[in-house]
Amino acid sequence: MEDIGSLRREYSRAGLNREDLCPKPIDQFRLWFEQAREAGVDEPNALSLATVDERGRPSQRMVLLKAFDEKGLVFFTNYRSRKAKHLAENAAASILFPWIQLERQLIVEGDCEKISTLQSLKYFSSRPRGSRLGAWVSDQSSVISSRKILEMKLEEMKRKFGEGEIPLPDFWGGFRLKPRRFEFWQGRPSRLHDRFEYVKDEKGDWTTARLSP
Ligand SMILES: Cc1cc2nc3c(=O)[nH]c(=O)nc-3n(C[C@H](O)[C@H](O)[C@H](O)COP(=O)(O)O)c2cc1C
Repeated sequence: MEDIGSLRREYSRAGLNREDLCPKPIDQFRLWFEQAREAGVDEPNALSLATVDERGRPSQRMVLLKAFDEKGLVFFTNYRSRKAKHLAENAAASILFPWIQLERQLIVEGDCEKISTLQSLKYFSSRPRGSRLGAWVSDQSSVISSRKILEMKLEEMKRKFGEGEIPLPDFWGGFRLKPRRFEFWQGRPSRLHDRFEYVKDEKGDWTTARLSP
């Protein structure tokens, strides 16, 4: 067995105190997201998305956050993909931003819903042509025999759409994760990290609590 037990680092960049917390978690999210951008974190909008299948078995993958507001956090994907099938069965999801460069992780949990076709179209239209074609080419998460299949399908799509508009596929669009819980984690020395959660109550108000690291 490879022993990597000595791989460790002290976290000492910053602390997180209750007085620092924005009353609304989405504002705290915005603040941390901006700080991740300013710090030059690679792909600061990349997050790990965990879903569960019909038997409750978890799986995860990275996706890119493309929009957020009080209503939730939006990412785009293929509506026939494995993750989308999971979400159709069980809307519950958990996402995690691994901002390790800032000695932070940010976790958000809640249910996912599809955004409107109009909203998906708006974002789809803003994507580069290659990405729009790619959405048509990939039957995401299905088994394929070779890369050649993808290349042939791409050529077929290029011929089909020519120089014209590339429409939004009906199997592609956005999901909004509607937050029920946020957790802001800041690494501290001696593993005495700062953790604050915001949990939404039945009235829709947020309560905060410090958690033991
Ligand atoms: C940094 C990064 C960003 C990604 N962004 C997306 C994305 O925004 N949407 C997407 O569908 N897949 C994205 N992927 C690919 C997914 O991780 C995954 O392979 C794909 O969505 C299929 O997942 P599924 O079979 O679990 O549904 C990204 C992968 C990486 C590494």
